[in-house]
Amino acid sequence: MSSAPIIQITADKGQRLADLDTGSTIQRLRQAGLILLRGFNIKLADFEEFTSRLCDRFHDVGTRQSLVNPDGDGYTSEVHRKNFNLFAHSEGAYLPRPPPELCFFNCVQSPHNKGGETMLVDGVEFLQRLPASLRERFDQQGIIYQAIWDEQRWQSEFSVDSQQELHTHLIDHPQCEYRFVGSEVQIRSHAVATRTSLGGSPAFANGLLAHLPQISHPRWQDLNVYSKPSNRVFFGDGKEIPQNVVNQLIDIQDEIALNHSWITNDLLVLDNTRFMHGRLMTEGECERVIRSRFGRLRQEHRNSITSTSPSISR
Ligand SMILES: [Fe+2]
Repeated sequence: MSSAPIIQITADKGQRLADLDTGSTIQRLRQAGLILLRGFNIKLADFEEFTSRLCDRFHDVGTRQSLVNPDGDGYTSEVHRKNFNLFAHSEGAYLPRPPPELCFFNCVQSPHNKGGETMLVDGVEFLQRLPASLRERFDQQGIIYQAIWDEQRWQSEFSVDSQQELHTHLIDHPQCEYRFVGSEVQIRSHAVATRTSLGGSPAFANGLLAHLPQISHPRWQDLNVYSKPSNRVFFGDGKEIPQNVVNQLIDIQDEIALNHSWITNDLLVLDNTRFMHGRLMTEGECERVIRSRFGRLRQEHRNSITSTSPSISR
């Protein structure tokens, strides 16, 4: 595990989240890929106001509709309270639509037991650690995510009600193949493995490690890591990504992960095109309440980035 520090902005006495300058927040995110805001007293409305100054198109989190905060604007949801490990991933990277650029995680209740950290993995460093041939293959071919989703899952993932609506929705996404088996859908979505970060650097930022059918890595195989037997991951040429490559990726994750221990009110902001996030179990069941939002940058921030980084096209 890496011990590199996370850029931290600590609240001055009485300082509110609303007082923070958005431009300098974006600037810090471009440089470091993540920011920790600590010591602010953050209510749901503060959280939604702050995130809405940075982003204007928020991600519907299909897998946790039931966790959407009923008092918010519909885009704030709690992360799962179940106690499990989840490998690092870029949010929404497996779907045939542009993933969110920013992730926001705000700790409402830090865990009383040990553990429960959020794992933060820098995709720029990750990419540099990949063997050249593997990096080239991911760069050139991307990843195919295969999954079988029940009706509730595909309806919420794509915000549709019927098979016909799904067909209409996906007709403009040839990189996403699907077929219905009864009410379930088998989906194969072809997506990039690497992205250009907000700071303009190439990064390994994808959902591969959170989309595995099983975990066979010797360090993790008995440790309750999320996997799903009907999931599959392939290189873009259709060849299944072999176990030894998956385990090599897990090793890199483990070597460079920053494991963030939560203090109530912490707010982490991540460049989702650079930093992948995951979670570690707590030792024993205990409350761990974290609210989250995922959004795409407001146009004015996008303009400010592209005007200073002509190589970035989004
Ligand atoms: Fe996530």
